[in-house]
Amino acid sequence: MPKTKTVFVCTNCGTQSPKWMGRCVACGSWNTYVEEKIEKEGSRPYDWKTSGETKQASRPKTLAEIEGNGVGRLITPDEEFNRTLGGGLVAGSLVLMGGEPGIGKSTLLLQVALGMKGISVLYVSGEESEQQVKLRASRLKGDNPDCLILTETHTQNIFHHASQLKPQLLIVDSIQTLYSDLNDATPGSITQVRECAGELQRYAKETGVTVIMIGHITKDGAIAGPKLLEHMVDTVLQFEGDRNYNYRILRTVKNRFGPASELGIYEMTSEGLRGVSNPSELLISERSEPVSGVAIAATIEGLRPMLIEVQALVSRSAYGMPQRTTTGFDTRRLHILLAVLEKRGGFKFGTQDVFLNIAGGIYVDDPGIDLAIVSALLSSYEDKPISQQVCFAAEIGLSGEVRGVNRIEQRVAEAERLGFERIIISAHNRKGLKKSSIEVQAVSKVEQLYQLLF
Ligand code: TYD
Ligand code: MG
Repeated sequence: MPKTKTVFVCTNCGTQSPKWMGRCVACGSWNTYVEEKIEKEGSRPYDWKTSGETKQASRPKTLAEIEGNGVGRLITPDEEFNRTLGGGLVAGSLVLMGGEPGIGKSTLLLQVALGMKGISVLYVSGEESEQQVKLRASRLKGDNPDCLILTETHTQNIFHHASQLKPQLLIVDSIQTLYSDLNDATPGSITQVRECAGELQRYAKETGVTVIMIGHITKDGAIAGPKLLEHMVDTVLQFEGDRNYNYRILRTVKNRFGPASELGIYEMTSEGLRGVSNPSELLISERSEPVSGVAIAATIEGLRPMLIEVQALVSRSAYGMPQRTTTGFDTRRLHILLAVLEKRGGFKFGTQDVFLNIAGGIYVDDPGIDLAIVSALLSSYEDKPISQQVCFAAEIGLSGEVRGVNRIEQRVAEAERLGFERIIISAHNRKGLKKSSIEVQAVSKVEQLYQLLF
């Protein structure tokens, strides 16, 4: 009788090892390895020679034999949520929503549950008591008589209630609080999270009920539990934003039923989350007179153009080590842009502290913001304001070349809609751009920028 095979799995990143290790070689975390069985006793591999019997009832089919066409979608009352999902919740799909604590995950999903008029929803909370959920609901001012609240963490009990109530949407807050009888690991451990997610997945696929589950995020921003959880679900949403600001972004990280680059923008108010349909107008502050260090970037977030204010502060460094601090932007990218300005324009940033801030605390990873950042840096360095009627959209390369960006027509159109007089873009984007009332200026090298600005 062979011994049962076991393997050690890192609970943080899911790396497997035949031996226990104190520190994970892949992610570097300490004391995260747990032993897991990988082979069931008494199971044998399939015997090819005798074409043995299987106990599975599955049967290969041609595409024509498979029933059903298209996907049924549950349209939620929340425009931004629908947009992020690619047009509503797909029936029978499993959605995972991740986000830092306190960002508003429970608020958003309770709001969606309460807004689904005429659709039966089961909202399972393992984190909050019934009273706490009620208190939150009263702030949200929503009421859906078909939405039932259940405080429960045991999966078998949840399925028991679900099989009687037959909801169309099941919301679980959060996957880390659930536990299943089928193993004895503690709630929140990798084995338990995986087992519970697996059970929810089977429930969704077999009953056609849409399941949304909330997942916690670890310190470094990954959804707690292994990557594996992301592979098991159909859609992964990430709710992010700076807690000190009111803006929140809901991003799709993965979507089997729609584009993976869509996003929704929300504002946290005292009455819950409000969708923001015209973000640009909120992210640009109105000023009576221009100040130095401010530039407006025409960026694309997801598929939507968005104009964002970039603020830079360059001041003489009091210490030997100049500081570089950013909010909403990659600090390493800032170092690169500063090096380009030093090398190509001869600006001495080496003796200066540089602080950079993107308005609203929104994290931008669109490379098209580069030109606005460089302009804001130059403006603060020279202490000369840039006209409030100009905006920027281009990427900057290491040799100081100004590169083209995607969806330039959309960016120009958004700038025009908001009443800007001038947009500065890359010479590569100039070709093929339709005539519009906004003045389009093209640059091909970062050295040329200075003349255009001041
Ligand atoms: P919550 O949804 O509990 O966050 P998560 O589930 O992601 O941990 O959000 C909590 C925060 O939202 C808390 O700081 C209070 C704030 N909030 C509002 O500002 N307005 C509201 O109407 C509600 C319900 C919460
Ligand atoms: Mg919560």
